[in-house]
Amino acid sequence: MTKRLSILPALLISLFSYAQQEKNTYELSAPGGENKITFQLNDEKPEYSVAHGDTQILQPSKMGFVFRNNDSLSKNFRITNVERSTFDNTWEQVWGEKKKIRNHYNQLVVDLQEKAGKQRKLQLQFRAFDDGVAFRYVFPEQGIKDSIFIMDELTTFRLKDDGKAWWIPAYHEQRYENLFTASPVSTLDTVHTPLTIESNSGLAISFHEANLENYASMTLANTTGNTLKADLVPWADGVKVRTTNSFTTPWRTLQIGEEPKDLITSYLILNLNEPNKIEDTSWIEPLKYIGIWWGMHIGKYTFWEGENHGASTKNAKEHIDYANQLGIDHLLIEGWNKGWTPDWYKNALHQFSFTESTDDFDLKEVTDYAAENGVQLIGYHETGSNIDNYLKQIDSAFALYRSVGIRDVKIGHVGSMLNMKEWHHGQFGVNYFRYVLKKAAEYNLNVLFHEPIKDTGERRTFPNMLAREGARGIEYNAWSEGNPPSHVAILPFTRFLSGPMDFTAGILDVEVSQGYPGRRVHSTSAKQLALLVTVYSPIQMLADLPENYVGKPEFQFLKDVPMDWKDTKVLNGEIGKYITTVRKDIDSDEWYLGSITNEESRDLDIELSFLDEGATYEAQIYADAEGTGYKNNPSKVEISTKRVTAGDNLTLELGASGGTAIRFKKL
Ligand code: NOJ
Repeated sequence: MTKRLSILPALLISLFSYAQQEKNTYELSAPGGENKITFQLNDEKPEYSVAHGDTQILQPSKMGFVFRNNDSLSKNFRITNVERSTFDNTWEQVWGEKKKIRNHYNQLVVDLQEKAGKQRKLQLQFRAFDDGVAFRYVFPEQGIKDSIFIMDELTTFRLKDDGKAWWIPAYHEQRYENLFTASPVSTLDTVHTPLTIESNSGLAISFHEANLENYASMTLANTTGNTLKADLVPWADGVKVRTTNSFTTPWRTLQIGEEPKDLITSYLILNLNEPNKIEDTSWIEPLKYIGIWWGMHIGKYTFWEGENHGASTKNAKEHIDYANQLGIDHLLIEGWNKGWTPDWYKNALHQFSFTESTDDFDLKEVTDYAAENGVQLIGYHETGSNIDNYLKQIDSAFALYRSVGIRDVKIGHVGSMLNMKEWHHGQFGVNYFRYVLKKAAEYNLNVLFHEPIKDTGERRTFPNMLAREGARGIEYNAWSEGNPPSHVAILPFTRFLSGPMDFTAGILDVEVSQGYPGRRVHSTSAKQLALLVTVYSPIQMLADLPENYVGKPEFQFLKDVPMDWKDTKVLNGEIGKYITTVRKDIDSDEWYLGSITNEESRDLDIELSFLDEGATYEAQIYADAEGTGYKNNPSKVEISTKRVTAGDNLTLELGASGGTAIRFKKL
């Protein structure tokens, strides 16, 4: 892996600064000129609006706060200073969907002060990028000794036009794991971000936030018509954010595209996070893994000790042998520690131990056997959302993993509330997840959060944050009615705008022959291969039982597909219908393609102009066999090869809930 960012930031020019402002309206345009934010002090109240070219997106929208005792910081302001600047630099990701990212924006910083009373100061920072706009509040140090309790953030987003919003509900016991619904903005209740909207204006937009730190997550509540308002997830006592002296909010972001697929290659969220803080990143590496995992979800094994315990030493060794045979060098083992019971998933303050193994599992013996076989184990902590119990043990648990050479740890938070009290997305949870990430970095451990809070680009600052689950993954197919075929055609335009996800694709036995009766993955096997490309994550599980991979020619694609990329392009896509993504390998000139569809079969014509000019490639094509669909012969994958160049076109024939995966190997 390449290390630190090499290009120094260049803060170019501060154009002007006025001590006294008479003017009340300031416009800020993105470098390319299309996206524009306008700030104005209207009747001494701050407001902002957003446009893209001639299209007004947000009408003048409110800003400000309410503190405890109904103390509002939103009016009677004067402008004390205005500064403009331009920033343009290109930085490198430690790992990612694209190696080099340009961070190019114009900035406007407005200093406000209340004209009377406490005369408090508030700074507003606006940034305009070519792929969207963002702003945040800074409440500077100003000699306030008392604690600050934010009871409400008044930020509103007054959409000019209604549109089709793709949403999941906030304040839900399944946290962030829900199926997306599409409905008009004007009918929304309170929803999570990213909230992606196909606006009636014709634009695609997505609301989210960046660099969420020591603050509550922002959900969006419809207040009236097309107006959405920041709804901060509260503590159990109703306070939204508690802090002292000063605070800086996360960036409130609005990504803007001419069409939905443009949102996927917008790096605005990452650009609004702090640069990498981990100096030596040699221990941070993208990876693929198999697991003692699907077996528990389909009922073949148990998490807890007993006859069918998945994490026995014997079974672990057999899985290490499988990893070896398949050529996959990482193995996850869940349920190896004390504390698992058949009721582990119920809301309760479960008492897991993170250092004591079950009686039938010898961690040292298993890690030694893995090391002899060139296999790295992935550690697993299921907190059951009993955070107090976890934090008491976190140092000894991380130290134990380090002592046996484990470098990656999956950390789960099943339960509706943390400590059965706080929402995952409240400030308590935000601080907890950041704390664990930093703590893991101290132990050189990479983290894979399950049941997390939403991602807001933290991976730029702490690249040991490999992925978060935070959406309905494959597991729902094992023990519920499952995910409909459209689910994975929605996620790239919504959930994935926030960051990588451990989706756990790669099930070849989609009819789940060893599973619960009637449960299946609503997909063809070829689509499962394609997901390894359409889903972006530096860590991906090949989730099927390993025995289902043995002897399957199509497993070759799962083995070949890289986890780290030089570049990513989205060739086509409509939310909930289909998407075709191509990515270039970080280490070679190979390109990989994944194309998937919802329940409708379709043919997609694609141009291969993304391939390197002048080169010839062998396209190794894994497609739905003729007549294959998710209800019909879903496991049949047809493998073929073809010589192609950048001047060629291909027609992809996708069955119902089908897909195509292609490796383009340079000849
Ligand atoms: C839910 C997680 O998503 C899954 O991956 C894990 O196996 C179970 N919890 C048990 O921790």
